[in-house]
Amino acid sequence: MSFDRSIKIAPSILSADFANFGAEIQAIEAQGADWVHIDVMDGHFVPNLTFGPPAVKAFRPHVKTVMDVHLMITPVDPYIQAYADAGADILTAHIEAGPHTHRTLQAIRAASMKAGVALNPGTPADAVEHLLDLTDLVCVMTVNPGFGGQKFIDMTDKVRKLRQMIGDRPVHIEIDGGVDPITAPLVAAAGADVLVAGSAVFKGGSVSSPEVYGKNISAVRAAAQPAAA
Ligand code: DX5
Ligand code: ZN
Repeated sequence: MSFDRSIKIAPSILSADFANFGAEIQAIEAQGADWVHIDVMDGHFVPNLTFGPPAVKAFRPHVKTVMDVHLMITPVDPYIQAYADAGADILTAHIEAGPHTHRTLQAIRAASMKAGVALNPGTPADAVEHLLDLTDLVCVMTVNPGFGGQKFIDMTDKVRKLRQMIGDRPVHIEIDGGVDPITAPLVAAAGADVLVAGSAVFKGGSVSSPEVYGKNISAVRAAAQPAAA
């Protein structure tokens, strides 16, 4: 079976109504989300605090697609089993979170999850050269992590380089931060296949007007697909 490199939209629930996550997750999936992106922040690795394993476990029954958990925490290793128990499908750790990403990725896979590695804007593509056989996803941050609604930082050179380095390996390139119908074609043309979008998906909508989520998701997909490498 060939690796699915088609464009996938992963709304980030960081921009959802925090008082209504279950209904929000169901709404974005009904409106076309391919994955659900969950931003875990510890108030230490990044200057913001969101949710941990208990909340992620509560989200699980509502996620029918793929639960894509983005860890902005340090350390990572002590929490890997807790996120496996919470039902994460993909667990992504930042390469800047500690000196032993090679070990962390193996531990994530050993806990029966797909492993991802994230790169802050200041971290070069070469940093993952010796990790590509241990990972299922490389997340390219196009904002400095910690908040939604920030301005897109152009990392298309890094994406192109990663696409080349990955070659035929079954490794997704995920883009996270400031993705919208303007920036989506840029990263898709460079070789990305998973597009995280928070504010661009949730803006103007709600669980009582979910069709707005649908329009927003379609707009990002329609902009990216023709440009996909
Ligand atoms: C930021 C998070 C992103 C964020 C994206 O640290 O990792 O997932 O929620 O939100 P937008 O699409 O609004 O930039
Ligand atoms: Zn994220």
